[in-house]
Amino acid sequence: MPLIHQRLGINIDHVATVRNARGGEHPDPVAAALLAIEAGADGITAHLREDRRHIRDGDIERLMEVLKRPLNLEMAAIDEMVAIAIGFRPHACCLVPEKRSERTTEGGLEVAGDLARIADVTGRLTDAGIRVSLFIEPDPKQVEAASRAGAPVIELHTGTYAERGGGEGGELDRLRAAASLAQELGLECHAGHGLTYANVAPVAAIPNIVELNIGHFLMGEAMFVGLKASILEMRRLMDEARA
Ligand code: PXP
Repeated sequence: MPLIHQRLGINIDHVATVRNARGGEHPDPVAAALLAIEAGADGITAHLREDRRHIRDGDIERLMEVLKRPLNLEMAAIDEMVAIAIGFRPHACCLVPEKRSERTTEGGLEVAGDLARIADVTGRLTDAGIRVSLFIEPDPKQVEAASRAGAPVIELHTGTYAERGGGEGGELDRLRAAASLAQELGLECHAGHGLTYANVAPVAAIPNIVELNIGHFLMGEAMFVGLKASILEMRRLMDEARA
């Protein structure tokens, strides 16, 4: 039997990266978000970093105005971002670790070792009607901590899988086990980071992962085939893996 539809969230950060390389307004990440939705994206993800290296506050404001699908705002678990999120009230916030020196989100959020602070931020966002997701390593200790922090959703970091491959008894098994544990604990499970045409299928086939968030690869591919075509191909590969 085919598995239930797995949502595809498109991360538009790197449209903003290209825009910011020259200043000005082109290419516009909000226009990319609208095109992604036309191509079948189930939602849009954007990471408002502390240093505003790609997405800016004004992009989030415009996304909130025009998007007809859910916006997942990625952010650090800090007061400045909590205040911004509560101001905009996106559908979801995904809490991620953030270091200024990193090129991208390296590693998952430390929830187990910082439970009180993560639970506090999760509670404040939840009280504002925002669905909170915690971006964590596929580690049972972190999955359990996410549940204790009161988050309804986790997003499993697929970066190590993308770098090293699945392997027997390796990273893919860790992802499967973490997704099963999430289900047992009543958490909704998403996954993302570093996914490409070549490595998406085994992750897409994990039954209880209900959403993938993909950005960098698709934006690069869009330079060759266009954004719509790149998203349609990713959608096809995900559906094929779940058929
Ligand atoms: N999910 C989260 C929480 C992320 O931080 C990122 C990267 O910003 C992604 C998904 C998408 O990763 P990629 O751009 O490598 O597809």
